Amino acid sequence: MPGTHGIGTDRERVAERLLAASHAHAFDPITDIDWDAPLVDGAFFLPAHRVSLYGTPIWERMSERQRIDLSRHEVASMASVGIWFEVVLMQLLIRHVYDRPLTSRHVQYAFMEIAEECRHSTMFGRLIEKLDCPEYGPGPYAHAAARAMKTFGSGVQAFAMALIAEEVLDTMQREMTADESLQPITRQTARIHVIEEARHVRYARDEVARGAPHMSGAERAITRLALARAAHIIATRLVHPGVYAAVGLDPAAAQRAARANPYRLDTLGHWSRRLIAFYDEHGLLGGPGQRLWRASGLMGRRI
Ligand SMILES: [Fe+2]
Ligand SMILES: [Fe+2]
Repeated sequence: MPGTHGIGTDRERVAERLLAASHAHAFDPITDIDWDAPLVDGAFFLPAHRVSLYGTPIWERMSERQRIDLSRHEVASMASVGIWFEVVLMQLLIRHVYDRPLTSRHVQYAFMEIAEECRHSTMFGRLIEKLDCPEYGPGPYAHAAARAMKTFGSGVQAFAMALIAEEVLDTMQREMTADESLQPITRQTARIHVIEEARHVRYARDEVARGAPHMSGAERAITRLALARAAHIIATRLVHPGVYAAVGLDPAAAQRAARANPYRLDTLGHWSRRLIAFYDEHGLLGGPGQRLWRASGLMGRRI
């Protein structure tokens, strides 16, 4: 029997369904992943065509071993950005429930999502350790920029922002899950994340769809700009320049080559296609933020 807060409302029904799905398909990454299995020699960690330098003259000069190593470091870099983003999201969710009926299904699902994100962040931490990589992180600027967001962000803006990382990582990880040539460890972590994130995406999309039509003109303009800024920060921090140095490349030259790489634009465009279609549908694109969207690479070659 659901609680007594807005029972029968659409919001409660969505939360009830998501809670049931969480109970039916829950994972404990510590026991559900074989962390002791050795890495497979000669297997990529990320599909080769999704590595940032794929197709560039630098890539052509790299040995197969170096390319595989770069894919290992790029997965670790994205996992560390994933932890950072999940920490931000956990705080946003805790703040979201603070002013709401604490016995509602809507709040109980937020608790469930926080619990899942706690386990994901632990999983990504173990993955970075297993890959024998440093904790790259998003860098000091993004670290500082997110502090204000996680402290004050709320409503449509907060949930729409959550979707940036969730939708982009989800599209990337679906491909990784399906690619049998990849390292089993990255496929296993991707699979758990894809299954659980599908629920988070639904929860966040629902909040955005419910709130977006009621935003004032000023609120919409501010939200559009904030989302563009967040998308730019996230997209340009997925691959830390330290990954290039780790495989013996000049980090500045490699980063420049990656940013100008048409294959990279295709990859970012592919990863963000669903996100951008959703934003467009809810009037969250446009205005002065478009410049940031283009610079982020997430528009792909649509520039
Ligand atoms: Fe997650
Ligand atoms: Fe999530």
